[in-house]
Amino acid sequence: MAVKNKKEPSQGKAGREIDKLSGVETTGHEWDGLKELNNPLPRWWLWVFILTCVWALGYWVVYPAWPTIQGHTKGKYGWTQHKQLAEGQEEIREIQAAYLEMLRRTPLTEVKEDPTLYAFALAGGSAAFKNHCAACHGTGADGMAHYPNLNDDDWLWGGSVEEIYRSIKYGIRSSHDKTRISAMTAFGTDGVLTRPEVLAVTDHVRALSGLDEDNARGAVIFQEQCSSCHGPDGKGDREVGAPNLTDAVWLYGSSRDAVSSVIFSARNSVMPHWHGVISDDKIRQLALYVHSLGGGE
Ligand code: HEC
Ligand code: HEC
Repeated sequence: MAVKNKKEPSQGKAGREIDKLSGVETTGHEWDGLKELNNPLPRWWLWVFILTCVWALGYWVVYPAWPTIQGHTKGKYGWTQHKQLAEGQEEIREIQAAYLEMLRRTPLTEVKEDPTLYAFALAGGSAAFKNHCAACHGTGADGMAHYPNLNDDDWLWGGSVEEIYRSIKYGIRSSHDKTRISAMTAFGTDGVLTRPEVLAVTDHVRALSGLDEDNARGAVIFQEQCSSCHGPDGKGDREVGAPNLTDAVWLYGSSRDAVSSVIFSARNSVMPHWHGVISDDKIRQLALYVHSLGGGE
């Protein structure tokens, strides 16, 4: 049923027709009988739109915005995220430089007395450790098979901060002239001991930490061949990096096979030197960090 309108088509402003149904003025545009109503956008909306356009224009002028064939428009001040990052880093470097200078002047053993300086050193050491050392010693410095745990108080070469510094700086059996050096004889492959003798001394070594029955023959061999480095009681010697054989800490495993294989062929693992590889500042921070891990003396 057609809607019957009481009002006759009336005239709006500028003589434009008013739509009968909605009572809204039309624009005067008409397509096949369809007429366009004149519903202007709200004022506030229009102004926000204009403002965003103005803002965008300003942005194009000031900041890099449009791609071009050669690259992009650079903006009035040449701002880039790279520059912003570099500036931020420069600021951090300046702050760090002051601390590094202080760290250089402070003997390693005294750094701890200045809590801020100490915290700075540990933070740097911890970051450097993850970069350079974690691959071998584990991210938590808790070691893995063949690589010593640096958290415990069992040290091959010494756990004072200076000894740790030296181990890191020059390495162990590394290619540096000042490296810590000592080589356990490969008693089996070098033909010093027969296989039964290696097994006998293996039993004695395992007996030192209560893993096995003692072996009298092994004990004699131990005094003759091993005590010069591992000590007459098997407690080790840090002068030559010979591990304590009486405790529960084993670098290469405690099974009979593992122990006899070390005695038969020796390991003599290498710890690389870091002198000339990373800065001395970093090595000092690393020494303090490793020392702080729990086993420092
Ligand atoms: C390629 C593997 C490797 C990397 C990398 C490495 N180490 Fe070592 N590290 C070793 C080995 C193997 C030993 C044990 C050497 C030995 O048997 O005397 C060792 C020993 C040590 C020791 C002496 C432990 C003790 O008981 O006296 C310290 C300290 C040490 N590492 C610190 C570090 C620090 C700090 C870094 C990083 C800057 C690092 N290491 C990187 C393999 C590595
Ligand atoms: C010249 C010194 C020297 C002599 C002699 C020596 N050792 Fe060693 N020994 C070492 C050193 C240094 C290490 C650590 C080597 C390494 O990290 O690769 C070691 C490691 C070991 C280990 C491994 C310990 C572990 O934690 O896994 C055993 C076991 C051992 N020696 C037994 C012996 C026995 C048994 C003899 C005698 C037959 C002997 N050593 C003679 C220096 C010596």
